[in-house]
Amino acid sequence: MQNLLVDHKTNVYIEEKRILLEELAAKAASSRYLPSYHIYPQSGLMNDPNGLAYFNGKYQVFFQWYPFAPVHGLKHWGHTTSENLVDWSKQEVALSPTKEYEKNGCYSGNAIEFQGELYLFYTANYKTGAGKIPKQAVAIMDKEGHVRKRTEPVIDGTLPGLSGELRDPFVFERDGCFYMLLGGSKFADEVRPGFGDQGVLLLYRSNNLLNWSYQGLIDLPFPTGYMLECPSLIQIDGKDILFLSPMGITPEKERFNNRFASIYAVGELDILNRCFHSDYWDQMDAGFDFYAPQAFLGKNQQPLLYGWFGCGEPDYPVQDGWQHGLTFPQQMQLEQGKFKRYPASEIVEVFSQKQSVESEKINTESRNYWLELTKGFKFTIGSTNDYWEFQYDTKTKLATVSRDNLAQKIDVGYGEKRSVRIQNLQKVDVFVDNSFVELYLNHGEQVFTFRVFQDECDTIAAQQGILAGYLHKA
Ligand code: FRU
Repeated sequence: MQNLLVDHKTNVYIEEKRILLEELAAKAASSRYLPSYHIYPQSGLMNDPNGLAYFNGKYQVFFQWYPFAPVHGLKHWGHTTSENLVDWSKQEVALSPTKEYEKNGCYSGNAIEFQGELYLFYTANYKTGAGKIPKQAVAIMDKEGHVRKRTEPVIDGTLPGLSGELRDPFVFERDGCFYMLLGGSKFADEVRPGFGDQGVLLLYRSNNLLNWSYQGLIDLPFPTGYMLECPSLIQIDGKDILFLSPMGITPEKERFNNRFASIYAVGELDILNRCFHSDYWDQMDAGFDFYAPQAFLGKNQQPLLYGWFGCGEPDYPVQDGWQHGLTFPQQMQLEQGKFKRYPASEIVEVFSQKQSVESEKINTESRNYWLELTKGFKFTIGSTNDYWEFQYDTKTKLATVSRDNLAQKIDVGYGEKRSVRIQNLQKVDVFVDNSFVELYLNHGEQVFTFRVFQDECDTIAAQQGILAGYLHKA
């Protein structure tokens, strides 16, 4: 097997660009909107989390990255590692498009450990004048962090009835075999340029991670839009949780109002019959800026997830040479069967200064804090002319985040309010990391993930009654 592998040229490539990257990073470092505890790009644009793993005693986080400008350009895999999910050390770019078969970018995928090495699966983006020829590739990272690419992709081309948009391999092991989920688009009725008109999920099988045989499409219990991206899967308490990111889902009242949506389903992936028996499913996130989550097992085999803190091509008021980031690492659980996600305990511990609050107004004097509320579920955060708002209506059971009073408008074309229905709201946790906000209802039964670009230190003001709970600072 070793002689099928060739050394990749990524480091040479990045060496040539090192000075440019340092200049870009210096510019981005002066941005006033940088988070302190979220992973963000040192320059350029970051999108999906990729290749997440706990490998060689460290968390390995890879991500889609266009390093040279804050736009969706030619994609690379950036890489960063951590022992504790809080302090990160930037690594060399893991994948850059140095081979002919990936000439239009190294797209998303995941990682799996095999024989002491980390196999990085990804889509090698390959465009021709007549459309895309989808290719799925693997690169192998050893414990020293050296990455080798193979001479050829492991899966080449599309299948009858499917468009050339086929991507984002997610490889996992079950009952002694390896399986790959792949997102795609099928021509059902109407032909749209590039894409088909129905999102589909493909299943492949392999014994050695290199030779893959197509098994068929998996029947899914939820709307799949015209294209499915970024499949992911994890088991919790004997249940399968499947994650998918469909493009083109029709909005339904308060659900699916972003450009693209992410869905989770709890149930059983029936590999033999190629279907997902779903106990229930829902959209992943109620906020404005969340997409393409990927699940993996952490240090103690705990089920963790990162999402992309962004969605499509949002119209943000500020760029400062960098765009987007990842969500906090989130620990997932099924609490009495209910899917919940909440920042990993390592992140929660960062916010160590704790102050009890019982007041109408709190000055945070910081842009990095966690507000834990058990009362006062109607509040604004910001200053008189620049604030965002949360409210819970006990009659309709709708929880709403509104960005319409922010001074710096964000992506207004997609609306400035998001709501979600939740029975019996008892607790609201707001994690503010400068311009990155994660708001958790009932310890992660529902989550709003969104950006705000505010300049002042925050004042939190109750609009009714008083705010009660704790303020934690980093
Ligand atoms: C999702 C996605 C993936 C693709 C990657 C390219 O945001 O479109 O489907 O692999 O981003 O950056």
